[in-house]
This record gives sequence, structure tokens and C-alpha cells, in this order.
Amino acid sequence: MYEVLVIGGGVIGLAIAREVRKAGGGAICIVDEGECGREASWAAAGMLSADVDAHEIDALHGMCSASRDLYPQLAEELYEETAIDIQLDRTGTIAVAFGIKQAAELSKRTSEQTKTGIEVLTLSRRELFELEPALSLEATAGALYPNDWQVENRKLLTALRRYADLNALDIRENTRVGRVIINSGRAVGVETTRGRILAKRIVIATGAWTSFIKLGDDEMPVVVQPVRGQMICFDGPQVLRHVVHSPDGYLVPRFNGRTLAGATSERAGFDNTLTDDARIALLEMATRIGPVFGERKVIDQWSGLRPFAEDGLPVIGEIPGISRLFLATGHYRNGILLAPITARLAAEWLRQVDRVYFTRFGPDRFARRSANTGNC
Ligand code: FAD
Ligand code: GLY
Repeated sequence: MYEVLVIGGGVIGLAIAREVRKAGGGAICIVDEGECGREASWAAAGMLSADVDAHEIDALHGMCSASRDLYPQLAEELYEETAIDIQLDRTGTIAVAFGIKQAAELSKRTSEQTKTGIEVLTLSRRELFELEPALSLEATAGALYPNDWQVENRKLLTALRRYADLNALDIRENTRVGRVIINSGRAVGVETTRGRILAKRIVIATGAWTSFIKLGDDEMPVVVQPVRGQMICFDGPQVLRHVVHSPDGYLVPRFNGRTLAGATSERAGFDNTLTDDARIALLEMATRIGPVFGERKVIDQWSGLRPFAEDGLPVIGEIPGISRLFLATGHYRNGILLAPITARLAAEWLRQVDRVYFTRFGPDRFARRSANTGNC
């Protein structure tokens, strides 16, 4: 019997398991259908972009910013814990425009963002090329988002996995969960391809595959769909310093000299196939931003399935009507960015899970009773 069982060992599940272990707790198990960390989280670009695409300071922006702000501490802690440097790079992100129309759109966006309090610096063309000399001379405008950073997501996954190994978290790979076992309205375990696993509390962090899991005899009440993203990668040497965003895609320079170019956004079901069309479109996009990429070798191409909930927002919280069952999915394009705060929220929930006693014995039951009896 585990204290906590996490279904899904992507960035969300692994980050949650680590946070739960750091908070104390008993035996923890992570179950993954394949190999931990090798799905969407491995395919990602690692951008921590809370600001560049934001239109307003809403709850999502607040959560993205708060999560980004947890990264410096997370990077330090993971280095201490695992000796792996997750290569948090705080150089910032540059948004670049081509042509008059895109320049006008960028100018409108940055002035609206400034009004809402987002930190963005409009760049003259001279400043733009001083910061990024490899950009195409056809770039007409630019803006710097100093708080949009990046991290080497594959190193992050490797560090989280190593943390799990070093801290006696039980990892069961190649084990698919089909159903959560519900007993008297309470989650008590899971049925897997390798038998039952019992646990006191269960977290579902299964990304794009979440809707396949049954809750007892019922379907998952949340629909999560896959949105395929394909990326390509160029050989070094490095010519960029910042992450560069354009309306058609982005470039992410890595410390090892490689540059990632992404990404497509495709509704192709659970199909991870790589296509020539995507490679050609990404190569053209990259070459438009930096002509040097037209002469570079494309050394890799990959894809991943982003978990998209109906409204495009993350789904984090208890499943109504079933106690001791928590859902953390739907992170769509921001799962790497949102992993630290999702982990904190899940750990917080797990700490409070015994609030069932407060519901039964807390003083507010008298107020509830008065309300039910019309206050007489
Ligand atoms: P996943 O990493 O997909 O992990 C889910 C895990 O659950 C998998 O390991 C799977 O095997 C397991 N699983 C599923 N079903 C079961 C089951 N029934 N039983 C057991 N195990 C199961 N985000 C950013 O923040 N910044 C970026 O720059 C960024 N770039 C991206 C670029 C691309 C091309 C893509 C595709 C995504 C990008 N994202 C980015 C989004 C990010 O990758 C995702 O939001 C994030 O990885 C989701 O994490 P996850 O742990 O929920 O899902
Ligand atoms: N956040 C980048 C992507 O999903 O492509």
C-alpha cells in the first residue's frame, strides 16, 4: 500500500512526486506506460514564456509567472540533489517582426502589454541587431522580454528522474493504468497491465492520454486531446543568444551549440509521425529569422503530443465526487513552465487531503446546519 501513487512520469508527474517526497510522506510510486519523461515533456522546447504571448494579466498569466519565478530555486536544488545542471538560461526572449503589418501588430501588442504591467522593452532596429547580429536584415521590429527564460527540458527530466531514483521513489515503467479503483466514493488503487496497485492517495498526470483512464465504471469527466508539435534541430556553432519568437515559429539556442526550431500545431490524433512538410516549413521559418540556418544541417526532428483540455487551460484539482484523487493535466503549450507550481499545488492538496475530518468536525458545520434549517 503506497501513501501516494502518481500515474504518469512526465514533467508533471515527476515534479509532483519530488515535491511530495520533499514534504515528507511515506512510500511513493510513479507508474508510467512507457519510459518516464519520454513523451511531450521530452519533445518540448523548454521555453519559460509567461509574457511574450500574454494579452492580459489573468489567472493563467499569474500562474505562469509564479511558476517561472520558482525555476531559479528549482535549478539550484536539483543541482544540489542530483549534480545535474538543468541549464536555466535567463538571457530573455526577443519577439521579432517581418514587414509592416507584423511590425504594427508587435507594436500594438507591446504597448498593451506594457499597460497591463508586463515587462517588455521595445527595441530599435539598431538595438535588435546589436543583441542578435545573426537575425535577417529583413526584420522590421523587435521587442525584448527579459523575464521569459528557457531551460534544457531533457536535463530537467533527467534530473527529476535521478531525484526519484536517489530518494527511493518506486518507479514502475512499461505499466499502463486502465482504471482507478473506487471504493465508497474514495480512490483506493489502480488496475494496471501488471496487476493492482493500492494507494491512499492518487494523482493522475497522464498528459494527452488522460481521457483513456476509467474512474471505476465511469469515464474520465475531463476531455483532454492531443495536439501534435513537431520540431527540428540545427547543428552549431551557436549564433543566437536569446530565444527568438516570430509569428510563424520560434528558435531556441542551446548551450551545446544546437538550435531548436519549432513548432507545428496539428490535430493528428495520437499519431507521433514526423512529416516532410513540417521539416520544410520549420526550415523555412528558421531561415527567415536567421538566414544562416539555410546553410546549416538539420540534425534531428521529433514530435510530441501536447495535452489540450477543452478550454486550453490546465486542469489541476480534485475530481468532484471522488475523494483522494487529484488531476494534473491539460498543460498544453506550457507544461515545462508550469511544472513547478503544479507540483506545489498537488503537494499542498496532499497535505490537506485529510480535511475530510475538518468538513465533519470543523466549527462551520453549525453554520451549514443553520442554513439547511432556514436559521430557526
Ligand atoms: P507527458 O510528458 O506527455 O507525460 C505523460 C506521461 O504519462 C507519459 O510518460 C505517458 O507514458 C504516461 N501515461 C499516459 N497514460 C498513461 C497510463 N494510462 N498509464 C500510465 N502512464 C501513462 N511547454 C513549455 O512550458 N515550454 C515549451 O517550450 C514547450 N514546448 C513544446 C514544444 C513541443 C513540440 C511540444 C509537443 C510541447 C511543448 N510544450 C512546452 C508543452 C509541454 O511539453 C507539455 O505541456 C508537458 O510536457 C506536459 O507534461 P505531462 O507530464 O502532462 O505530459
Ligand atoms: N510552448 C511551445 C510549444 O508548445 O510549441
